[in-house]
Amino acid sequence: MANKDLRQLDTPHTHLISAFLAMESPDCLLSLARVCGGGSVTESVQRFIWDQCIGKAVSEQNGNFYRPYLKRFLKKLIVEVESTGAYVLDEFYEQYATFMISVKDDDMAKGLSRILKWVSFLFPDDCSKSGKLVIPLQCSLNLLEGDTGCSIWPSSLFLSEFILSFPEKFSGKSCFEVGSGVGLVGICLAHVRASKVTLSDGDLSTLANMKLNLDLNQSCLKSGLLEPTREVQCKYLPWESASECELHDIMPDLLLAADVIYDPLCIPHLIRVLSIILRQRKAHSHAPDENFEHLEENIAGTCEEKETLNRHLKEYDSLHSMSLCTSNKTSNRWRQTNKQGPVAYIASVIRSIDTFNYFLTVAEQAGLSVADLSEEIQVLDLLPYLQSYQRSNVKLFCVSCSS
Ligand SMILES: C[S@@+](CC[C@H](N)C(=O)[O-])C[C@H]1O[C@@H](n2cnc3c(N)ncnc32)[C@H](O)[C@@H]1O
Repeated sequence: MANKDLRQLDTPHTHLISAFLAMESPDCLLSLARVCGGGSVTESVQRFIWDQCIGKAVSEQNGNFYRPYLKRFLKKLIVEVESTGAYVLDEFYEQYATFMISVKDDDMAKGLSRILKWVSFLFPDDCSKSGKLVIPLQCSLNLLEGDTGCSIWPSSLFLSEFILSFPEKFSGKSCFEVGSGVGLVGICLAHVRASKVTLSDGDLSTLANMKLNLDLNQSCLKSGLLEPTREVQCKYLPWESASECELHDIMPDLLLAADVIYDPLCIPHLIRVLSIILRQRKAHSHAPDENFEHLEENIAGTCEEKETLNRHLKEYDSLHSMSLCTSNKTSNRWRQTNKQGPVAYIASVIRSIDTFNYFLTVAEQAGLSVADLSEEIQVLDLLPYLQSYQRSNVKLFCVSCSS
């Protein structure tokens, strides 16, 4: 979907088309359409929806817009306009009739679960020449596909907003992401001209989908839809089996991760990976590392028995009395990033306080400090049209070596 000719749109229309491209729910689209029409879906708003959204999607030769979604949106739209007694565009009826014959609603059941979405970051006028960055991403309708890595999670939206809000923090830096999923964060890093961008994941189908997305964005780049950026590389990196030697080869200035703190079984492995990478430039001594020994014990435990881990979790709960206990030295950490060695920025939705406290405890045992940046830094709201994205639920942490 080309966006070149849409630069002159007002805010409500920009929000409507951005929400459509991101496949927001038909209800969300209708509420944005009403804003465009000053309270109702007027004939001119319908014309806009036809010319710039539905009609345009249908007429695209490659037809890669998910048809059942278009059908659902059209139906809601027709019902809404009819209910007000207003005139409904003929094109809507004609297209809906065509969809009735040609589009079944059970495509998912037939195995067609991959769809294409466009995430549009809308910059305040003074921030960007073009005003927006539109990123096409293939993802899955099934949240669990590819070990959850084929969907766009809110933490990667927030981490992307963070990167685009503070481009100077990432520009010229080599960046490495773990658990990268669809690859959105890497595309944003390339956009702000990080010197090197490597994405990684431990799921092979996620990795294949990520590569496809990087190619997709490269071709948008060639066709002039995106500004030239650096190439993004992909790496297969399951935390459990990543060797120390392999991890030692990764020497980024910055580590990143979004929505990777959710499975207690994976946490010791994730911390081991973070710890080895973050330690690269700190420790040159060959002395055994006490913090590491703790970590290895944790990992051995989790591999042997799930019950052991659950017992650990209960102990950690009582230790932390159900509260978040991140460092209160946040301000210093944010200001000093990169002065004392690499840091990791981790965006996360805390779905289980137990799991998160377990992450903090294992991190502490590994000699990592975790600072909560969420209150301190003002990340630009670049996705104001995405009603499904609860950005206030996402926390941003800075992880660094404390010893
Ligand atoms: C919830 S998804 C988040 C994806 C992406 N960062 C985002 O926020 O949209 C978690 C990601 O971590 C990856 N992951 C989970 N466990 C992993 C492990 N043990 N080793 C490597 N990657 C893992 C999954 O494959 C998936 O891509």
